[in-house]
Amino acid sequence: MMAGRPARTSKPARYSPLVSASVLDCELSDMAREARRALRAGADRIHLDVMDGHFVPNISFGPRVIKSLRRVGKQPFDAHLMISEPGRYLSEFIDAGCDTISIHVEIEEPIEPTLLAIRKAGRLAGLAIKPATPLSALEPYRELIDIVMVMTVEPGFGGQKFMKEAASKILPAHKMFRDRSPDLAPGQVHVDGGVNRSSAELCGIMAADVLVVGSALWKKGRDVAREIRLIKALTVEGYWNGAGKGKGAIPHHEWATFAVLPRVIGKGLTAEMEAAGIPTIQIRAVRPDDWVGPRPYELLIPAGFEDGARERFGEALQRAETDAAEARREAAAAITPARD
Ligand code: DX5
Ligand code: ZN
Repeated sequence: MMAGRPARTSKPARYSPLVSASVLDCELSDMAREARRALRAGADRIHLDVMDGHFVPNISFGPRVIKSLRRVGKQPFDAHLMISEPGRYLSEFIDAGCDTISIHVEIEEPIEPTLLAIRKAGRLAGLAIKPATPLSALEPYRELIDIVMVMTVEPGFGGQKFMKEAASKILPAHKMFRDRSPDLAPGQVHVDGGVNRSSAELCGIMAADVLVVGSALWKKGRDVAREIRLIKALTVEGYWNGAGKGKGAIPHHEWATFAVLPRVIGKGLTAEMEAAGIPTIQIRAVRPDDWVGPRPYELLIPAGFEDGARERFGEALQRAETDAAEARREAAAAITPARD
């Protein structure tokens, strides 16, 4: 027997993504006016990129600038700290009036004390994650965070191209939040970097809660309100239409990763599952730098089908995984010079 539709979900079946306007690339001589302009145009929050020239190869602004910007509106301020020592400066960001503070999971100093201190100050604590860092890096902190900020560009600069593969972490980040203690409030997943009209649909397919939008808002002559409306509308469309395949009507935060397989190897399994009435989506997975062999794809199915599908297709999945391992071994052997 197949399991039915998902019973427990951390969110209502409505989906209305929020836009957090990043002021990194606005007209910096008049940041307050620019932030106000974005808020009046419909931005729901302000995203503040703090860079120290050490964790990232760029320097932006710090807590004093944020504090003076605070007067632009009551909307939440999201601090994104791309700095090596957030613990050292934390109290200043709290004092500056940041509502959420996200630090990077890749820093070398201990992360836990800073997350605890953010929450203790009554703010939401977030972890930001670079494109090449796997989501598993967040596991040790999953009970301590309220936000996962999935970076879809290398942190450091605005105006870069959206990295689709990194976006594939958004959906599993929802799952991570779903699987934790039920007494914790549902977490938010932010997507940061290269979000614009072209990438909005994919952000929706992945059910991102907050879209960080920077340079797309500040292009000369742009109607900021129209841009925000367009990006939101495209995101919502992506959410309900899943990869444009008309799979709609299944809220995408309820999709779970069933397997990670090369596309050709996953094909047979996908066909069998579809034939059994299980909708599937395949999206490119994040590839570690040293990856050899065929490109991996995530095979997503509605979360409510997961248990039943594991029972019914478990063996087929194991066979596919063995084939995938074999394909990787062959690829590795092909690039290793033969010895005699
Ligand atoms: C990059 C920053 C982003 C950036 C987004 O390091 O974290 O928040 O400002 O800007 P766009 O939308 O231009 O990629
Ligand atoms: Zn940012």
